[in-house]
Amino acid sequence: MDYRRSYIRDLLASAPGGEASAYGWVKTRRDSKGVHFVQLNDGSCFSDLQVVVEAGSLPEADLKRVTTGACVRFDGTLVESPGSGQSVELKATGLEVYGPADPETYPLQKKGATMEFLREIAHLRVRGNTFGAVSRVRNRAAWAVHNFFQSRGFSWVHTPMITASDAEGAGAMFHVSTALSVEDGRYTLLSNDPADDFFGKPAFLTVSGQLNIETHVLGLTNAYTFSPCFRAENSNTARHLSEFWMIEPEQAFCDIEGNMNLAEEFVREVIKDVLENQGEDLEFFNKRIEPGLIETLQHVVSSDFERITYTEAVKMLQASGESFEFPCGWGSDLQSEHERWLTETKIGRPVIVTDYPKEIKAFYMYANDDGKTVRAMDVLVPRIGELIGGSQREDRLDVLERRIDELGLPKEAYWWYLDLRRFGSAPHAGFGLGFERLMMYLTGMKNIRDVIPFHRAVGQAEF
Ligand code: 4AD
Ligand code: MG
Repeated sequence: MDYRRSYIRDLLASAPGGEASAYGWVKTRRDSKGVHFVQLNDGSCFSDLQVVVEAGSLPEADLKRVTTGACVRFDGTLVESPGSGQSVELKATGLEVYGPADPETYPLQKKGATMEFLREIAHLRVRGNTFGAVSRVRNRAAWAVHNFFQSRGFSWVHTPMITASDAEGAGAMFHVSTALSVEDGRYTLLSNDPADDFFGKPAFLTVSGQLNIETHVLGLTNAYTFSPCFRAENSNTARHLSEFWMIEPEQAFCDIEGNMNLAEEFVREVIKDVLENQGEDLEFFNKRIEPGLIETLQHVVSSDFERITYTEAVKMLQASGESFEFPCGWGSDLQSEHERWLTETKIGRPVIVTDYPKEIKAFYMYANDDGKTVRAMDVLVPRIGELIGGSQREDRLDVLERRIDELGLPKEAYWWYLDLRRFGSAPHAGFGLGFERLMMYLTGMKNIRDVIPFHRAVGQAEF
């Protein structure tokens, strides 16, 4: 059993005539008079290989164990398929059952299982149509992300997962500590003093690699991270995870304009790549999950994103005549209902909103001359809302120090971040794209928990 053997994807693309072996998991089995039809899938592509078994051609005891979910190998001859939808099928002459699956208890057996149910069997769901397709699209999109940046001279930098700084200047972080012991299912605090803890001070799982990536662009010029981020918000929404993957590019000698151009090109190129290379999977999503998906994605690839300021966005929202759950006024953050109205209803395609009030954005964003707004940019897309958050960074030491003081943040903790402005500072800008939000956009899947193999959320750390 060599990895160089043919996969079902290869067999389906072969000409009829040759001998072949097909390994995989049984999707369905249908018996009619004198002949059995088995749909076999190995995850290499969306399509199943149809295996045709003439009655009496294989030992009955083995054939009995060929049920949905079983892992098997069929040997046989590839023949032209009379059925529509596939060019070849396998006429079986041999069979090995590696792992049977009791049809009475196999959890994935159920037809019409809900997404919620499938989430509870995340260890098995990848064998089904939807999650096989999600996994292949996710894999391709990740490849396209690296390809995009690598072909433009960005270095992939591995920023730490454990950090002592709160990148966003906000709460909602997971502590990393060895100060707790668990005995008999109960916690005991070993010390009250962070100095006694593993890192000698409070440490957390990172919410963003941004502050670290900034160190590297002031030396490498262009860099990016692509890694897990963690947020402990107790938000039980279809668009938030406690553990998600973020892509954070950063460029030196770049302002907000260049940042927007990069974000737009990036989103378009990744979509284009997935359209070109995972067409079969996208056809499935288009048909079964989100009608019109492919057309929308094609449209995004070929059209420019709208660009508006926060102030313009607020005016549009106030003039909309819509009754939103949350009121919208200058100075308050845009809620996801506002974001979706802007991109879906008002503009009808992705939109980049810039120049937000400084009070609702992080401390590191470049202050505009008006004294009120900062050079922030959020990319909003239909169905999802916020896909990207980013900004031009404050590169002036005195302005940044003043802002940190104004907000009452612990300046000592940011000593190394301030050093970047003290020694060889440069205008620079970057953004973060939530990979699972992009996955929702690419697949039309409605819940972010269904586009990551094993989701982490409040009360959910199974598998
Ligand atoms: O807007 P955010 O919080 O921006 C930052 O963290 C910046 N430091 C990024 C940067 O400038 N380098 O997060 C960026 C993106 C959001 O737009 C969203 O797509 C995603 O990360 N995101 C989440 N995705 C899933 N679950 C969550 N809890 C998320 N929080 C943010
Ligand atoms: Mg944001």
